[in-house]
Amino acid sequence: MKPIHVGICGVGTVGGGTVTVLKRNCEEIARRAGRPILVRAAANRDLARARELVGEGVELTDDALVIARHPDIDIVVELIGGTTIAKEVVLTAIENGKHVVTANKKLIAEYGNEIFAKAQEKGVMVAFEAAVAGGIPVIKALREGLTANKIEWVAGIINGTSNFILTEMRDKGSAFADVLKEAQRLGYAEADPTFDIEGHDAAHKLTIMSAIAFGIPVQFDKAYLEGISKLDAADIKYAQELGYRIKLLGMTRRRPNGIELRVSPTLIPEKRLLANVDGVMNAVVVKGDAVGATMYYGAGAGAEPTASSVIADLVDITRLHTADPEHRVPHLAFQPSAIANLPILPIEEVETCYYLRLNAQDQPGVLADVTRILADGGISVDAMLQRPFTDGADDGRDDIAIITHIAIEKNVNAALAKIEALDTVNGKVVKLRLEHLNG
Ligand code: NDP
Ligand code: HSE
Repeated sequence: MKPIHVGICGVGTVGGGTVTVLKRNCEEIARRAGRPILVRAAANRDLARARELVGEGVELTDDALVIARHPDIDIVVELIGGTTIAKEVVLTAIENGKHVVTANKKLIAEYGNEIFAKAQEKGVMVAFEAAVAGGIPVIKALREGLTANKIEWVAGIINGTSNFILTEMRDKGSAFADVLKEAQRLGYAEADPTFDIEGHDAAHKLTIMSAIAFGIPVQFDKAYLEGISKLDAADIKYAQELGYRIKLLGMTRRRPNGIELRVSPTLIPEKRLLANVDGVMNAVVVKGDAVGATMYYGAGAGAEPTASSVIADLVDITRLHTADPEHRVPHLAFQPSAIANLPILPIEEVETCYYLRLNAQDQPGVLADVTRILADGGISVDAMLQRPFTDGADDGRDDIAIITHIAIEKNVNAALAKIEALDTVNGKVVKLRLEHLNG
């Protein structure tokens, strides 16, 4: 059967992995797709490096737009990253009637609505499995496997770099900067690793999953994000003593008045499977009303795991491209006319449990003052731990770590302002969110 012709834009970590796996498994892939999937052309800035990877017989250019307009290419694979040239390539390819596969979560989370509308108009598919959780087929699961369910929440460890850093710091006591360098060397980190450690990358992925889970437009600008760079080793230790692990967690939850969409370092009970997802591994837990909680686990980054998702999309498109566009799976799982306009809730309206850590003078009445302020704010305490403050100075100060039951963030913030105003409390109170993730 006539092969499907692919043009790859960006032959870097993921582009290189895609070419390698497509070559290695070409027969198996053709048996699944119904026809061979061939790389016909590729674009890269460094042409010599691209030639090494793609081999002879593949047309090469340093202008990705040549691929987007190439008359012999059926599917354009965008693996450049960012939202400048990548966006132009994707929109040009769609304009030229080509299907698109991308691993670019930033592009989909920020411009997905525009891209899907254009693709709909032109009757082409835009597939983005690799954009969320690397090699884990979680988009497929959310969009198709769980289609019977009303999704209640989705929680995920969806940034491999941050999880790798947190794990190495906890297990080996390694320094943050050293582990980050290692993550960069291994090809896990984004071109600008700030995106990984400050939560942007996870928020991009969460935004995409939230849209698919709840049938809402992608709204990255409304996501709340907090990264791991300010996380204190003391909190990792106290959390562990209290029976929790701290992970950079993405959480999106349906509430009666809107959708929570947030990424932040979060305590998870250590008995949960998600708390034990370590290193570069990613995992996503989806709670559906019919199925209950299901979990998806695997490599969240790296050349071949991500290529696995890119190629799964290529096979899907190869199988479906002759189907009537009306009968294809909608980009965001729900029919475009049925997309809802549920609001994304501001972070102050979020309802969850909290870990609070304050540094206070060890003298009578301090704890009573703190718990009274919390009680006045309707915040109930679940557990508490008091440890001598160990910065070397024996000045009668203690760290007090408190776990609360569910509370509304604005009430917690108001109580913290009062606690910080107490003469006996030093500096700011650390506040981390905590999720029990009950199935
Ligand atoms: P790389 O930086 O390794 O690869 C990008 C490639 O694009 C490079 O070879 C680069 O060439 C090339 N490139 C850059 N600008 C242009 C241009 N204007 N025209 C043609 N080629 C260009 O990135 P990754 O492979 O890691 O990431 C690619 C995408 O996949 C990103 O969107 C990323 O977020 C996503 N992703 C990455 C994962 C990973 O594990 N790495 C996992 C999941 C998704 P040069 O090197 O010469 O600049
Ligand atoms: N930089 C990303 C991560 C790559 O560390 O998870 C995978 O999307």
